[in-house]
Amino acid sequence: MKDIDTRHLSWDEWDELNNPRPEESGFDRVVEAAISRRGFLGGVVAFGSGAAVMGAGTLLSGTAARAQGASRFDFTPIEIQTDFTVHVPEGYSWKPMAKWGDKLFSDAAEFDHETGGDLASSDRIFGENTDGMEHFSVEGAELIAVNHEYVNPDENLPQNEDGIPATAEDVRKLQNLQGVTVMEVAEGPDGWAIVVDSPYNRRITHTTPMRISGPAAGHDLLKTEADPEGVEVLGTLNNCGAGKTPWGTYLTCEENFNGYFGAADPEVEFSASEAYARYGIGSEGRYAYEKFDPRFDVATNPNEPNRFGYVVEIDPANPDSMPVKRTALGRFKHENAATALAEDGRVVVYLGDDERGEYLYKFVSRDAYEEGGETSTLLDEGQLYVARFEEDMTGEWVALTPEATGMADAAEIAIHTRMAASAVDATTMDRPEWVAVNPVAAEAYCALTNNRNRGLRANAGGDETPVNGPNPREANNYGQIVRWFPTNGDHGEAGFTWDLYVMAGNPTVAEGPYAGSENVNAGNLFNSPDGMMFDSTGLLWIQTDGDDSNEGEFAGMGNNQMLAGDPETGEIVRFLTGPNGSEVTGLTWSADKRTMFVGIQHPAAPFPDGEGMLPRSTVIAVKRDDNGVIG
Ligand code: FEO
Ligand code: CA
Ligand code: CA
Repeated sequence: MKDIDTRHLSWDEWDELNNPRPEESGFDRVVEAAISRRGFLGGVVAFGSGAAVMGAGTLLSGTAARAQGASRFDFTPIEIQTDFTVHVPEGYSWKPMAKWGDKLFSDAAEFDHETGGDLASSDRIFGENTDGMEHFSVEGAELIAVNHEYVNPDENLPQNEDGIPATAEDVRKLQNLQGVTVMEVAEGPDGWAIVVDSPYNRRITHTTPMRISGPAAGHDLLKTEADPEGVEVLGTLNNCGAGKTPWGTYLTCEENFNGYFGAADPEVEFSASEAYARYGIGSEGRYAYEKFDPRFDVATNPNEPNRFGYVVEIDPANPDSMPVKRTALGRFKHENAATALAEDGRVVVYLGDDERGEYLYKFVSRDAYEEGGETSTLLDEGQLYVARFEEDMTGEWVALTPEATGMADAAEIAIHTRMAASAVDATTMDRPEWVAVNPVAAEAYCALTNNRNRGLRANAGGDETPVNGPNPREANNYGQIVRWFPTNGDHGEAGFTWDLYVMAGNPTVAEGPYAGSENVNAGNLFNSPDGMMFDSTGLLWIQTDGDDSNEGEFAGMGNNQMLAGDPETGEIVRFLTGPNGSEVTGLTWSADKRTMFVGIQHPAAPFPDGEGMLPRSTVIAVKRDDNGVIG
């Protein structure tokens, strides 16, 4: 056993502890990083004077020079908060809509704060740790598909010592509380609520059968004793961000899948392959799955981890449909899947790999999307690319082909995508979280949440991570948002130009790059941008998952929050604050855009039910008091 309590670590902290990344060393590397850093500091000095912005390079080249117009925000920004509830601007209000444990079906038991709910009900209720979500209008019904990323065993198994799963039933309950919910929701006199027993309601869990499609389907590395063909798998793991296709299906993204696998018998010699090491698969899982469910024991089922780490497509309109793992979109710690259409109708999906020093990807379909046409192979046939950012603020999507990567075929690239990206010298990034595509301008944004290893440690594959253009700060604890403008305004093009929309920082305690970019000020401080969505008017909504201690370098930032950003002026203002301990993640709108649904994940205190109750991850509904449109 480890001598520190790992139960409450974030996924990335847990992963670093269990699968430490190689330490960088070597005089050359240190010198190279220092030179890059000097270059950046010069840019920041220049950035302070408006006229020099275009020449200065990396920050807001297209926007800061624009004339200041009227603010696009029709609310008064709010102050930071450090309390245990949600705050929104004056003239707005919020209510819980769906809490962990709320019934999807009337045969589920009422939520029990003593037990955290029973096993029989655990896949008949709204699951734990709400994350990415999307809204769908289906034959007059309003559906929301939403992810349940992971569990909080202290709260889910409150009667167990330290919440540690002790039986197969405990593990099964945790497996049922994760995955995806599809639910019908409706607005009544008391606000929004789940439509219990709607025929659309559905839970997808860690044991739901799903089909494997695309280049990796049937590959030897995906074959197991239970599935000798390598074409069908049980469950989807660690569903983080999401996406929506033009044809109305939901994309759920498997992120920290590695943390569910381990070796049941610690005496069994565990030999980590290069691929296991790159993906962080080790001898100990986070929730003891391997001890009670042999499928997660890598000593006996070494290929099972190869069947996770994908994007899964779900048809919310058909509760009987089998989810499909789309391996053509690559295997890594998928954050979300932001879709766009190329000029010629091909489908573009932007994808981030959320780990320190990993990469940013895009998939482009071979065939064009046609409304009402066949869509079943659009996410199977196509080309995966990885981003290479140049210091001159141009960039290129590099195709991951066998020729370029030295890999045998498309299947191997789909399974060992990280190694393929390393082989083409892609740009190591500061933990790519959500990508958002602007619906009213040809541009896309990626939240690079933070990376304390930048310039100090290699990534899991041993690739050096010196500071670079879009990741310009060593030991980056604040994060930044990079954006790119595809050549000819066409997301299907291989070329782009880029800049940084914002560099989070703290001008009240730091100078230079750690003070942040010009559009960060004492009134809008935040760190660790993560969730990100555009509304239909082209405003960028930014959610945070960072240090909410409100101390030291994070002083004045308060709890995690949601801000709104104007892409044209760079202005960023605070709209919502979450309860202390929580992450604000997941955002979508009702069909009439008069309600905004926001996810509050893992509150520390008993939010929203109050003293003596268990904390419950919750999707809240936010409205204007005059019922106006908000997005
Ligand atoms: Fe699940 Fe990278 O956030
Ligand atoms: Ca996230
Ligand atoms: Ca995060």
